[in-house]
Amino acid sequence: MYYPDELIEEVRSKNDIVEVISGYVRMQKKGSAYFGLCPFHSEKSPSFSVSGAKQMYYCFGCGAGGNVFTFLMNYENFTFRESIQELANRAGIDLPELEYSESAKKEADKKGILLEINKEAAKYFYYQLRQPQGKIGYEYLLKRELSQETIHKFGLGFANKTSNDLVAYLKSKGYKDQQLVEAGLAGADEKYGLHDKFWNRVIFPIMDINHRAIGFGGRVMGDGNPKYLNSPETLVFDKSRNLYGLNFARTSRKNHMILCEGYMDVISLHQAGFTQAVASLGTAFTMGQATLLKRYTETVLLAYDSDEAGTKAALRALNILRETGLMGKVIDLKPYKDPDELIKNLGAEEFSQRLDKAENGFLFEIRVLQRDFNLKDPEEKTRFHREIAKRLCQFSEEVERDNYLEAVAASYHIGYENLRKLMQSYALKNGMAKPIERPKSGIQSKNTQEESIRKNQRLLITWLVEEPYLYTSVKDFLSPEDFTDELYREVAEKLFEELKSEKFSPAGLVSMFEEEEKQREVARLFNTKLNMLTTKPEREKAFHDILIKVKEQSLEYYSGRLGSDVTAINRVISGKVALENLKKTHISLKE
Ligand code: GTP
Ligand code: MN
Repeated sequence: MYYPDELIEEVRSKNDIVEVISGYVRMQKKGSAYFGLCPFHSEKSPSFSVSGAKQMYYCFGCGAGGNVFTFLMNYENFTFRESIQELANRAGIDLPELEYSESAKKEADKKGILLEINKEAAKYFYYQLRQPQGKIGYEYLLKRELSQETIHKFGLGFANKTSNDLVAYLKSKGYKDQQLVEAGLAGADEKYGLHDKFWNRVIFPIMDINHRAIGFGGRVMGDGNPKYLNSPETLVFDKSRNLYGLNFARTSRKNHMILCEGYMDVISLHQAGFTQAVASLGTAFTMGQATLLKRYTETVLLAYDSDEAGTKAALRALNILRETGLMGKVIDLKPYKDPDELIKNLGAEEFSQRLDKAENGFLFEIRVLQRDFNLKDPEEKTRFHREIAKRLCQFSEEVERDNYLEAVAASYHIGYENLRKLMQSYALKNGMAKPIERPKSGIQSKNTQEESIRKNQRLLITWLVEEPYLYTSVKDFLSPEDFTDELYREVAEKLFEELKSEKFSPAGLVSMFEEEEKQREVARLFNTKLNMLTTKPEREKAFHDILIKVKEQSLEYYSGRLGSDVTAINRVISGKVALENLKKTHISLKE
């Protein structure tokens, strides 16, 4: 941890979570908590809750949760440190200069240096484009009908024909060979030594959402291989979590984003006024990129190449969009290959009309599917209908399913009732789709016996968080070691310490963990859904039962380790005694 714990706690306690999250999510008070639509997954009825008492949020739908820091880490993609700084700022708290640990300092320095090197390189390329030796690059860009303004806005540049001038320039600025290699700008070669990665190419700097150059793409002028050369992934360049053009597109304030394949497509779309265009970074579209887009929009219009490869890529992208809970549509670019060419030939007005007519992603999939079947052949036609029926089952909501069914039945002249029956027979065989689930973190595993043990441990912890006074009654029976999951044990240790000293703050406990994954899991621990039992005896029994279960399971766990763990024998002996006593003890709850 870089800031002292007390300071982190001060920042947290001066930022009321309900107030902070209200700035992002519309919420309504229901009982003791506020509820709204979860910003981290797609849903139609609110399962996202924020508790002012606990100063935590938790989504019963996707399991996102944490304190006010976790929220900013998730929503704004901040690091823990950045979210502390942001909230300190908000509350008017001055933070001291950071006390870095040695390794953290190295890591932060390293990233900082790579960003600095990229910035120097971007400036260098930009300058070269405007020199006599860069004329050929400038002319290439003009030939592609980019305006001076556009070239400037995207910071386009040129890498000279010479094979080590950038390296020489950066070294003259004091950077080391190793650093240039780590920045992805130089390659080391036994025979020729250090040399530039890019040469004789026009350069497209790739910027993160804060307009910082994190990598580069270089295009050959004319034909040549590879057509585009991209920076390798580095400490600051994660290709699966950034998008070209997003630094501008995020503020375009349209109700959708346009996703294209190429940098040139993005640039010519922006030049034509479609500033909501982005592209992936020379690799296929990823979940990480979809999640990034989801912060800004609900609808993504694909402007992928109209050829076979582009269609395949569009189908894959549609799947990813669906899994992320985004609505996907497809723009028809025919007869042109890509948006850049369409705009050049038919103009912005025509592209705008194509946007309005973008095809629903599911209907696009069915239309592509249809090409594989000869509908004049009765058997192939039947197989086509079956395939449609099967795919309709992916919609878990009845209204939505029915709307698609109706649309497809009409477009392909299939009897509505027939198609509905066919779909139902599939649904009976294979079940309807489950609602979209967020990929679970590695910490969690489902449906195993271990998971049910963990669930009991979570329930017990939630009980103690909800009714802290219970700790006094259970402390003679229960120890942190009864929590057999490593993270749970760590939380129990901290929690019990706080309960003992009566300085208990669940949200504060969350920020003792630095990683968002852990914070989320701790939030889950504190927010397990307790059954709505109303009478006091029922609740007392439920609590007693869960306590006994956790003790029994801990006893079983340590009994199984008698051979391998020297402390196990003591745990087993004391565990047995505690369990016997517990069974004879009545634990009272307050009303
Ligand atoms: P232009 O010919 O300049 O108009 O290219 P484009 O924008 O039409 O791009 P294209 O459809 O050829 O490729 C789309 C994207 O894929 C590019 O922006 C690059 O990010 C990437 N790409 C294209 N060719 C290569 C290549 O040879 N190697 C790598 N790694 N990526 C490439
Ligand atoms: Mn193109």
